[in-house]
Amino acid sequence: MKLAIVSFLDLNRRSLEQVLLSRLSSKEVKNWLGRYAQPYRELMAYYRCAMKEVSTKFEVLNEEFSLQYDHNPIETVKTRLKSPDSILDKLTGRQLPLTVESIEQNLSDVAGVRVICSFPSDIYMLADSFLRQDDITLIRRKDYIKEPKENGYRSLHLIVETPIFLHDQKKPMKVEVQFRTISMDWWASLEHKIRYKKDVEITDEIAGELLECAEMGAKLDARMEQIQRRVETSDVWGSMN
Ligand code: GTP
Ligand code: MG
Repeated sequence: MKLAIVSFLDLNRRSLEQVLLSRLSSKEVKNWLGRYAQPYRELMAYYRCAMKEVSTKFEVLNEEFSLQYDHNPIETVKTRLKSPDSILDKLTGRQLPLTVESIEQNLSDVAGVRVICSFPSDIYMLADSFLRQDDITLIRRKDYIKEPKENGYRSLHLIVETPIFLHDQKKPMKVEVQFRTISMDWWASLEHKIRYKKDVEITDEIAGELLECAEMGAKLDARMEQIQRRVETSDVWGSMN
């Protein structure tokens, strides 16, 4: 057991080291690791704790809604910690210092939680219930459902701050929460795969097709929601008969 933990830490450290080596000289990497390896590891552990806090909140809401209203608003909750590669890419891209303090101060999406909902209305209902909780502070909200991106991307993004409780302190951590329906998520995952395919240019024609698919997805979401409402209403009449 101990051996497994040690090798896991070594593996983590190596990958961070490799990522740094592609950007800094070996002397700079040595200095960086001497100073920041431990604080970096700690910060990532704090982000993992914050993601757990947030995903538990959604599990609780899902359970409560299924008991109260016989309806599961959530299909899945996924969490992801930003990789060292993406963290350093973002800092370098924005010409920010490559320090652990800079990661915490400048990046708001190191901890990501994605909530995949059944219907579009579930997204707003869940986001409202989540934001009403007194240990959640809203930092930024972007509603790409009401105003989809030009390429068709739809999702509700919240950047929130939530405390984690350590043995000697309460630490506020930023978490990015993305709410999508199954169809929004399906579109975004495939669009991402297509867009990041190496050496392939996205022509206007392909971009147009992708946009059309996103709009078809939105229509399907609206239609499925209407069907669900009709079924719910007929249930009410059914139980009164
Ligand atoms: P980032 O530097 O990308 O984080 O930009 P931002 O801070 O303006 O964030 P924004 O809220 O616009 O988007 C952040 C995240 O949303 C991305 O990391 C993706 O997960 C997702 N996203 C945004 N736009 C798109 C898109 O066009 N396609 C896909 N597939 N995902 C997107
Ligand atoms: Mg991001």
